Parts: sequence; structure tokens; C-alpha cells
Amino acid sequence: MKLGCCYFPEHWPEEIWAEDASRMAAMGLSLVRVGEFAWSRIEPEPGRFDWGWLDRAIETLGAAGLKVILCTPTATPPKWLVDSMPEMVAIDAHGHPRGFGSRRHYCFSHLGYREQSRRITRALAERYGEHSAITAWQTDNEYGCHDTVLSFSDAAATAFRLWLERRYQTIEALNTQWGNVFWSMEYRLFDEIDPPNLTVTEANPAHWLDYRRFASDEVVQFNREQVEILRAHSPGRDITHNFMGFFTEFDHHDVGRDLDVATWDSYPLGFLEQFWFSREEKSEYLRQGHPDIAAFHHDLYRGCSNGRWGVMEQQPGPVNWARYNPAPLPGMVTLWTLEAMAHGAEFTSYFRWRQAPFAQEQMHAGLLRSDNSIAEGATEAHAAADVIAQLGNQETTKAPVALVFSYEAAWVCGIQPQGESFHYLELVYEWYSALRRRGLNVDIVRADAELDGYQAVLVPTLPIISAGFTERLSNLTCPVLIGPRSGSKTESFCIPSDLAPGDLRKLLPLAITRVESLRDGETEKGDGWTISRWREDVSTDCDTEFALNDGRGIVFQKDNLRYCAAWPDRTLLDLLVKRTADEADIALVDVPEGLRLRRTASHVFAMNYSSKPVDTAALQLGSPVIGETVMQPAGVTVWRNG
Ligand code: GAL
Repeated sequence: MKLGCCYFPEHWPEEIWAEDASRMAAMGLSLVRVGEFAWSRIEPEPGRFDWGWLDRAIETLGAAGLKVILCTPTATPPKWLVDSMPEMVAIDAHGHPRGFGSRRHYCFSHLGYREQSRRITRALAERYGEHSAITAWQTDNEYGCHDTVLSFSDAAATAFRLWLERRYQTIEALNTQWGNVFWSMEYRLFDEIDPPNLTVTEANPAHWLDYRRFASDEVVQFNREQVEILRAHSPGRDITHNFMGFFTEFDHHDVGRDLDVATWDSYPLGFLEQFWFSREEKSEYLRQGHPDIAAFHHDLYRGCSNGRWGVMEQQPGPVNWARYNPAPLPGMVTLWTLEAMAHGAEFTSYFRWRQAPFAQEQMHAGLLRSDNSIAEGATEAHAAADVIAQLGNQETTKAPVALVFSYEAAWVCGIQPQGESFHYLELVYEWYSALRRRGLNVDIVRADAELDGYQAVLVPTLPIISAGFTERLSNLTCPVLIGPRSGSKTESFCIPSDLAPGDLRKLLPLAITRVESLRDGETEKGDGWTISRWREDVSTDCDTEFALNDGRGIVFQKDNLRYCAAWPDRTLLDLLVKRTADEADIALVDVPEGLRLRRTASHVFAMNYSSKPVDTAALQLGSPVIGETVMQPAGVTVWRNG
């Protein structure tokens, strides 16, 4: 795994670039990402390009032996461009324009902006496509950041109508499939259809789902247009995009198909603070991040681009954007780096090289402080570089367990939660954590992935089930665990004619006759475990494997398939993982609280996320090649595998 950093030469006097570059190299970094927000410096006025500074920056970095990941700057269209076509900005759900003065102020559907995006991409690709220092390209920056996938502009409305016409062919078909007879919502023409915002009460969920699918396709198309230009002018260079954490607004699997390498931006402390974690978890893992945050995304994005992935931005210290921004425990930056290696990252690049003393992110740590002194993160990056050199290449092997992830499932649950606390990402994350707590490697795969060869498959929920999915499940002989709400909707967001789980009923003879959601904090009790948030009444001849104390069934089994008709607590989930693993002959490990394991072909890595020392002797892994048997908080220990 290589190391790198995100560098903004345009923020610093040219006199210090060479010193920066040689300090990077001395620290063990070999990659440097450049240019993602530099449009106003590349093209200060329409059609007048100032390449000189970027030429010299790339030369300087290259001369120090660094390889450059060059970005298209389309996340920050300059003021002159926005002023020349003011209707290019995105419109939010309340109908307000998202104005100039920060970033991502564009609408994916605006054809004029799309042309500008191709134009600036082509200009960069023509100039630097064959430059020997350029090793890869990043398209744009964090599609969707700051809630920018959905736009409700006129451009989006026009594109949506065309998208609908292609999908449904006739307006009658759309009316029927959406169920528009309800509330007299029928349309006579595609041109009559608006985006689903600004309705009096909720819009038709089928309308929303198609709007989300459409918006996701717009991101895919925007990205693809850049990719095609870059491929044509820059042969042999990888193309990537930096995805975000806990983000499902567009289908990353679809975007990933056009990339060579999927990358993501890892900010474990910010994510712990911003997402659903409990008060206790936020306090226990304050300076480490919850132990599965980084790993979850590593495994998710490894599945987005044929196994090739990396970390484009790694938190090096406190960030500026969460409600509270603690500093990482000493050792965490090294731990996060080595954990990425254990999950098969091709590189980890720190955000950012030096803290900026100005503008929005002046409170965001860098590897260096703004006065150029070494910050804590730099020392840790250097330490990680030494360990990486010692360990050598790590090969990723197929995990025993596949966990099915679907962006469409996230949209369906978000559009119609039915209970406020039914969050798709949280459900999937809990199932993932249950596997990781028992020491398992996990591959997070898309719903149309090949499932053969896995020893167990988990589907936390998949509301829309394609016939192909059912068929692939029917070919499996390994244990399969399926979660609530699976098969509960048709493609066009209706209840299947023979009730949930719809097409899955071919394999699992059960019908969901009623569902209920429970207020936060309400639980229903089984034997030592509980369920919360969601429960289904099930009519079935299948065996009931787990029932509530009052006899209502929760987990049902037929052959190799299990269906869990509720949101299980940690104890029930652990029991289900145990039964699944036992049937699959997968060995589970009693991993101490806060510790996580990850196996590569040659090594076993342990990461101590807990705030206390952890003794790993009971794991019987022998003598470590890196680290100690009694691991300190934020410690990493590595053994040879087998
Ligand atoms: C990322 C973004 C970077 C920077 C960073 C700060 O979301 O890609 O440009 O803003 O966050 O943590």
C-alpha cells in the first residue's frame, strides 16, 4: 500500500513547493492529489488558461519522485462561470437556489454546465494526459457532499420527464405503475410531471423512488462523461472518484462500474459524532471512532470497483465539520492507515498536507500545522510507512461471508420508513458489526453480485427483489440470513400482489400479513433477547426458530434459508450469526470488546479500538511480527497467518 496526501499548491507560495515535495517523500509518501478545487486559478477568465503554475507544481512534485493524482475541478465552478449561466446552480427541495460562495453549487442535469464540465476536463486531459508524473485522475470531488445529488431545477425537471418517458414509454403505463388513480394524480403527458418536492403532503413514493433513480443516473452520466474524456487522452492511468462515508444518495455501484479504482474519504471521528451511535459509544470511542466505521466502508467500496480501492482522504487529526471535533488518540492515525492496508487498500492519502490558515477549513488539521511545523498526524503517517515497508504487499482473499448492500434499498427505506427509526444504513451496519465482532472478514457486495463461493450470505434487507436475485439465492446451498422488509415492494413501489416477501416466496413459504413499527426505546422480549423498531406478523408453515415470549415468531427457517421478521437486538443478532456460522463451518473468534481482526493471505491484523489495553494471548496467534500481545489503546498487532 502506498501513502500520499492531498496538496493544494495554489494555497501556498511557490517558493515552498519544492521543500514540501521533498518533505513528503522523506515522510514515506509517494502520491499526491492535486487540483480538485483549482478552477479559478486554472482558468481565471473564460477561455484564458493559466497553466504555468500547475505545470510547475506537477514538475516540482514529480521531480521529488512523487506521483500525482490530478483532479477535474468541477466541484467548484468559478464565479464568472456561474454568472454567465446563473440557472446552472442546483435548486433545493424548498425551491431555493444553492448559491455561489462555497462549493458544489451546480446541478447535475444542467446541460450547459455539463458541457463546461466536459470542456474543462478535456483541457486538463489534453495538457497532462501523458505527463509522466500523472498516475491517476480523480473526477470532481465527493459527488453529493452537502446534500447536492437532488436538485429541483427546471433542468432537472426536463431531464426527469425524458428519463420517465424512456422508462415507461406511455403515460398510461406510468399512471398504472405508480398508482396515480389514487388522489386523482393521473397525468395526460410526461410534460405534466414535476419533481416530487413542494407537494402539499407527501408525494407518491413511486414518484420519489423514480426521482432518486433518475438523480442517481444523472450522477453516473456526469461522471461517465469525464471518464470517457480522461480515458481517451490519458491511457494507462487509473480513474477514480472519492466517495463519502455513510452516504447513499446515489448508486455508488453504478458509478464504480466506470472507475478503475473506488476511493473514499475516511473521517472516523467526524462520522462517530454525526451518525446514530449511542451516547455510550460516542464516549467510549470518542478519540478512535467506532471500531467498524472505517472497515465497513473499506469493505463496501472494495465491492464497488472490482476489488480495487483506496482511501483518498484520511483524517490526520481533528476535523472542522462535526458538531464536536476531538483529537484522535495517539496512535489512531497509524491504526487507521494499517487497517486500510489489512482490508486491501492500494493507497491511503491524508487530508491534508498542511492546515490552511484561511477560509472555511482553517480549523481542520493537516499533517503539518499552518506554520509548517510537524503536526501529530505526520509523525504517525511516518510510523505507518515504516510498518508498511516491513510487512510488504498484502493480498486480499475472498471473505467467508457476503453481506448484500443496495443503494435502492436505502432509498426505499428512506422514502417510506413507516417507523422513524428504520434506517437502512444503521441496520446494515449492525449486521456487519455482528460479523466483525466474531472476527470474520466480510465482503460487502451489490445485489446483482455473484454469490457462489461464499460460505454464508446475509441480506439485512432488500425491499425490491429482482427475479435474478431469487434465482441466485435458489442456487446457493450455504446458509442465507434474510432480514425484515425484504421483498416487500415491487419495482414501482407497490405491495407485491401475493404480499411480502414477494418473489422470495418461491423459496420461503411465508407471507407477511401485517407490519408494525415501535417507538424508540420500546422493545418486545424473547428468551434473553429483544426486538425493537420493527416487527412483522408472519403466516407460514416454516419452522419457527426464535419466538417472542408470547409465542409470536420472529425467525423462521426453511432448508438453508432464515428469515428474521424484526429488527433484532445485539444478542439475537449474535445468536443468528452463531447459528449461521456453525452451519457453514465457519470458525468464530471470541474477539475482546473493542478489538477487531482482519486476515490477509499472509497476515492477521488486530486493531485495538477500545480505550483500555487488551490481551490477545487467548487468540493463540503466536508471536507477533508487529506490535505487542498486550495491545495498548490504538495499538496494532500483526501476526503471520497460519
Ligand atoms: C471532505 C472533502 C474535502 C474536505 C474534507 C474535510 O469531505 O472532500 O475537500 O472538505 O472533507 O474533512
